[in-house]
Parts: sequence; structure tokens; C-alpha cells
Amino acid sequence: MTDTEATIVTRDPSDPNWWRQATVYQVYPRSFADTDGDGLGDIAGVTSRVPYLAALGVDAIWLSPFYPSELADGGYDVADYRDVDPKLGSLDDFDGLVAAAHGAGLKIIVDIVPNHTSDQHAWFQEALASEPGSPARARYIFRDGLGEHGEIAPSTWPSNFGGSAWTRLHRADGTPEQWYLHLFAPEQPDLDWSNPEVREDFHTTLRFWSDRGVDGFRVDVAHGLAKDLVEPLRDANPKDFGLPIDGSDPIYDRDEVHEIFEGWRRVFDEYDPPRTAVAEAWVARERVSLYARPTELGQAFNFELTRADFDPVRFRTIIESNLELAEQSGASSTWVLSNHDVVRHASRYGLPQGAPLDAWLLSDGTEPALDREAGLRRARAASLLMLALPGSAYVYQGEELGLHEVADLQPDDLQDPVWIRTEHGRKGRDGCRVPIPWDESEPAFGFGAHEPHLPQPAWFREAAVSVQDGDPSSTLSLYRAALAERHRLQQGEDLTWVEGGDPSVVHFARHAGWHSVTNFGDVDVALPAGVVLVSSGPVTAGADGAPRLPGGTTVWLDPR
Ligand code: NOJ
Repeated sequence: MTDTEATIVTRDPSDPNWWRQATVYQVYPRSFADTDGDGLGDIAGVTSRVPYLAALGVDAIWLSPFYPSELADGGYDVADYRDVDPKLGSLDDFDGLVAAAHGAGLKIIVDIVPNHTSDQHAWFQEALASEPGSPARARYIFRDGLGEHGEIAPSTWPSNFGGSAWTRLHRADGTPEQWYLHLFAPEQPDLDWSNPEVREDFHTTLRFWSDRGVDGFRVDVAHGLAKDLVEPLRDANPKDFGLPIDGSDPIYDRDEVHEIFEGWRRVFDEYDPPRTAVAEAWVARERVSLYARPTELGQAFNFELTRADFDPVRFRTIIESNLELAEQSGASSTWVLSNHDVVRHASRYGLPQGAPLDAWLLSDGTEPALDREAGLRRARAASLLMLALPGSAYVYQGEELGLHEVADLQPDDLQDPVWIRTEHGRKGRDGCRVPIPWDESEPAFGFGAHEPHLPQPAWFREAAVSVQDGDPSSTLSLYRAALAERHRLQQGEDLTWVEGGDPSVVHFARHAGWHSVTNFGDVDVALPAGVVLVSSGPVTAGADGAPRLPGGTTVWLDPR
């Protein structure tokens, strides 16, 4: 199938439940397609690729932030929630994208970043110019410092990007004054969600995009909005030990956060069909489903597969527990193997199990050695398994090309604030954000006319869409075939385990005509009887001629 032969998406556009079983394709706009030749991807670039996405067979496009931003954190530092970054286009371009996507039967989900603004946001600029205790400062979390001269940060809370979560302000003459909270970079001041003005303003933003035809929202740091600001500020729980399941951490996953999202739900329900949402909430498994209640965001990301080795027990446990949780909350499950925050799964699976990924990136991807071929084989198997699961599958741009992490970006190229904030202790997430290779014969492999904002490695050539397009064995062809079959087969939210006795095999049936069988091991196993619908790699034959499933391979079978 070529780009232009768009699959007809048959789902009813007015179906309020479209999201329950959707395949959502995540676009990181600045690294997707650059039409104006400035080295940064743009909205018109996404529009130009809508036929590609429709032909791929996804149901929705999720856009990571495209709002005006100084890019202190890849766009997650938003200077204006109700506009498009001029570097990426205009609101007219955005309307054009919505029209093109809807015309092709695709939904549009936008990223909303409520925990913090950019320090360039008009509110923060006003706060800086205002006195302590002023209404302008009350939209954020400003506090006096501790110690005789206020020289000690108000609490020990750490920034997610390294260092303290507090930065002290100084007047023009250099006199130090209050501190402000930023759970991420200093350029990302946290909002105070106990302030009704903040709540109201986000309702306005949700309506602004919903009125423009946006179908849903991905909610950044959903678990961070409510903080316990009663003084003295309590120490936060060390992240390594996980958050407490009683909601007692002072900064994350507090019970008060749910009331905020009940308010959002009321806004979503003003629309027909209601707007949808998915929470990014890095909280204890038992509490993820609270965010996904139908009275709140409706769905929450399950990130467990992004942290799991390619291991049958881990996969099965994660699938079982998340299906149970989805049932409890009334949501559908979500499945994520890669996104813009984690090392791409082709690379994770090509490293020894448990390999420390930050250290691997620091070694430019040399230590331990990456087995590229095994990583890609397993990634294809894991993706095919994921696409057979009930619920929504979130596919990150480039995973359909089998892209590996670009592990050898050099210090001068790195943009992630993590690199600086950890004093070069962690490289961060740029390696999964390198612009996509579309055409092996074009400059920047078809990403755009100018040098891309992150350099592409030479090996991106073999992964280009143009190279994979006509090749039935390519990863792109695998995703296209799997998504076409998924459209035909994905009905209901059932899953039945099929026990075969081999511990390296994970086999489940969705319904009579659809089985998924994955061999997580290294040696081939007998393939259960049936017609192969899609296979992540070649099926072989044993000495007796009977079909065998090689290691690191998934097949979908119709066992008729
Ligand atoms: C989660 C986003 O996915 C990540 O990219 C970002 O850095 C943080 N939230 C802060 O907004």
C-alpha cells in the first residue's frame, strides 16, 4: 500500500466510544515533518502526512505540544495555551490539520499541560513584576525562603529534571526575594490549582480547542496538580520507592486532584460526542484507574510496558493486572511501548535484560553493546502482541519504522534540560526525538529542506518510509497489515489466556477467530494450528514439516 491509498476508516465519527479501542499515533510535531525549511517540524508538515497516517491505519493523532514555547522542555513549557507556536504555523494551519484529519476519518487529540506554564507565559511575567502576596503571584506557588535571610529553599522537594524544585528570584538590583516552585525546569513554574482563576482559565482552554474540533486531550502530569501547601512543607516521598497508595505524598497523586478532573469532565460533556481525555499519571498501579473514572478523564496511560524487559512473565502480569484495573474503573486499557520520554523499544529489547539505560546513553550506546537485529525482531513481536490487546494502543512516531534510539547524540546537540540539570549525569530524551526519515533520497531524509534541529544518523536511511514502503517484510508493512486486521477484528474487550505449557510463550484469544501467540524465548516452538493472519517474522518449518514459531516472534492466528 502506498501513502496515497488511504485506508477507509469505517468507524462512525459520532460514536462517543471511539477512543475505547482506538490506535492513537503520537506525533512529536517539531520532529515529524518540516514544510517551511527551518529545521523544525510544523503543523503543515503533520497535515501533509495525514494520508500516510490514514494508510497506516491508525484512528487518531495525538499532537505533543505545538503551542508558543521557548522550548526549555521540548514544548512542555507553554507560553500561550490558546495559540500555535509561530515557528510551527498558525491557528489557520491547525484548523487545516483538523479538517484534513477528520476528512480522512482520524480524530485529533492535543496535549494539555496544566501543572506548569512557561516562564514566558503572560501570567508568570506579571507575577515577576508583582509584589509578594499579590493576586498575580497567587496563580503560582511563591514562598519565602527558610533560614535567617530566606536563603534556604522552602522545602526539600526535588525537580524531576535534577536539582531543587525551587528557584529564588532576585530584584533588578540583585536583592534576593521569594522562591517559586517548579517540579520540572526553572522555566516551568508550577501553577496553584487551589486558585479558582487557574481552574477557570483551563476550562476556557479546553473549550477553545474543543470548539475548534479537537476530539480529546492528553493530560500532562495529571497527578501533580494538587499539592499539600500547609507549612511547614513536608518532605516528598523518594520516587525510587514509588508513591504511597494512600495519597499521602505532599506533591503527587493527592486525592484533591480528582475534583479538578471532575470539573474537566463537565466541560468535556458539553460536547457531542463528549471530548475524551487520557491522563499521564505516574502513580501506583492501584491508583492509576482513579484518573480513568468515567466521571474524570476516562482513560489513563499504563506505562508498565515501557519499563518491562522482553519477558513473558512480565508481559503477562502487566496485561492481566491492567485489564482488571480497567474493568474496575469502567475505562478501557491503554498500552504504550514507546513515547517521547523513553528509550525506543527496539533498542531496549536489544540490550541485556535490566541494562541501565541512562548509563547506556552516556556511553553513546556502546556499553553494553546493542544487538540491533534482535532488538528490532523483539520490538516487532511486542508491537504485534500489543496491537492484539483490548483497549487503546498508543504508537509513537517512528516505531512503525522500527527505529532504534539515536544513542550517540553529542553534548552540543542535546536539548533536553535533563542533561544540564543533572550536570551531565543523564543525557535525557533527545535520542527518541530525532526527526523522522521519510525519503532516503531527499535532504534530511525527507524531513525538510534544512538541517534538522537534532541530527539524523546515517542509518536512518535504511529505515526511511520510501525504503520500507514496497517491502512486504518491512516493519512499516507489518504495522499496516496489523492495523488493517485490527480494524476488522477488534470487537469487544475480552481476552482469554490459552495455556500451552511452554513458559516462553504468551498465547491469548480475543475471540474465536483471533489468537495472538508470542514466543519470548530464543529457540523456536511448535506453532498452534491455524491460519496465520499476520506474523512479525517468518514462520519456519520443523523436520516433520510442521510450522514452528521462531524466538522473538508473534503471530496472529485464526485457529479454524
Ligand atoms: C511529561 C511529558 O511527557 C514530558 O515530556 C515533560 O518533560 C514533562 N511531563 C513536563 O511537562
